[in-house]
Amino acid sequence: MRKIRVGIVGAGMAGRFHLQCLRRVYGAEVEVTAVTSLRAESRDAFGREHGIPVYPDLSSMVPHVDLLDICSPPYAHEQGILLAAEAGKAIICEKPLTGYFGDGRETFRGNTASKERMLEEVLIRLRRIASAVRSSGVFFGYAENFIYAPSIQKEREIVEKSGAQILRMLGEESHNGSASPVYGIWKFAGGGSLIGKGCHPLSALFYLKRMEGSARWGKPIRPTRVSARTHELTRLPAYQDRKLIRTDYLDIEDYGWIHVEFEDGTIGDIVTGEVVLGGIYDYVEVFANNHRTRCQISPTGLVDTYNPRGEQFKDVYLIEKASTQEGWAQAAPDENFTMGYQAEVQDFMSSIAQGRKPQADLDLALDTTAAIYAAYVSQERRGAEVAVPLI
Ligand SMILES: NC(=O)c1ccc[n+]([C@@H]2O[C@H](COP(=O)([O-])OP(=O)(O)OC[C@H]3O[C@@H](n4cnc5c(N)ncnc54)[C@H](O)[C@@H]3O)[C@@H](O)[C@H]2O)c1
Repeated sequence: MRKIRVGIVGAGMAGRFHLQCLRRVYGAEVEVTAVTSLRAESRDAFGREHGIPVYPDLSSMVPHVDLLDICSPPYAHEQGILLAAEAGKAIICEKPLTGYFGDGRETFRGNTASKERMLEEVLIRLRRIASAVRSSGVFFGYAENFIYAPSIQKEREIVEKSGAQILRMLGEESHNGSASPVYGIWKFAGGGSLIGKGCHPLSALFYLKRMEGSARWGKPIRPTRVSARTHELTRLPAYQDRKLIRTDYLDIEDYGWIHVEFEDGTIGDIVTGEVVLGGIYDYVEVFANNHRTRCQISPTGLVDTYNPRGEQFKDVYLIEKASTQEGWAQAAPDENFTMGYQAEVQDFMSSIAQGRKPQADLDLALDTTAAIYAAYVSQERRGAEVAVPLI
């Protein structure tokens, strides 16, 4: 089998952990041979630090790679996918697949803009992406790490082997904002907590029902309806800022909740937000007709450490988004493993080498994105039920 030459798009946080994981893949020959990003300083620094050739833009990079690993902000995902599909190159795309990024006007504010219009445009984008990827036949891996978290994969095995029927699920991803400077601006991120964080547990819920359906009936069980609410807690006039929680959001929600109904009538709920201190808080709970599982994604409970003096741990990485090094901490010994990043990249590379579909595929990405924008329409109607338009 020939070597897979990977070009990373985006030299930020996701670009860095993708690179680490790509360099630890086994069973397939993989080399990161290119990087590009919007700003010359960041792409040059990334290339220098990791010894990777740098290209000024996507078009000049594409001929030199077999796979485009898209780790740019959400507004730039579709452009990369279409270019790669056109050139017949394999694709990995970070979450969320795509979204609605404004009407081009400086005065655009996502939180007050029409959500029906957003859903309409997002559906056009999703159909365009689906058609480009499917007609070109290129590999597509949706970089949704929740699917690959060891705890979620254990639950998939339990559901499949015990023939379980999942009756209800509860999932969450919350923490204290994002490290990305453009998070908080709808025209770059495509929304707030629902799209930026809620997409993780929502995809996990959709994945588990897909797997249940495939195991029991040979076809996935898909979402049909959503109800949602969102709030802007850090922008409430009554909010008392203690400077511990990130607050610089322009026009996004910082809390969201989605209730989902699946086509077999079973349900799921996800909660997400930017106002949770104490490190990344990610879990999925499954209540089935024959078992119950709590999937810990972060923290995992693997390491509890107590530090009476902050400066002692100044060089110790504890857990993503920990705001202090003092006191008790639930440390992450290896986030690439516990969060699923390593298994995700491994599955993508093995799938390419073996010519099969990955666990997190285009269908999952399409359902998740359509459901989130249907949820924004529901939020605009103060929680009324909205059908999920399936692509
Ligand atoms: N799975 C996860 O847990 C996880 C974690 C972090 C980020 N992400 C996702 O990864 C993506 C990037 O997030 P991040 O935190 O690394 O952001 P970031 O802002 O840290 O980095 C983004 C990089 O993309 C570059 N960029 C911006 N516009 C571009 C364009 N048009 N073309 C090419 N490059 C461009 C920027 O210069 C920067 O180097 C987002 O989709 C985000 O949702 C996923």
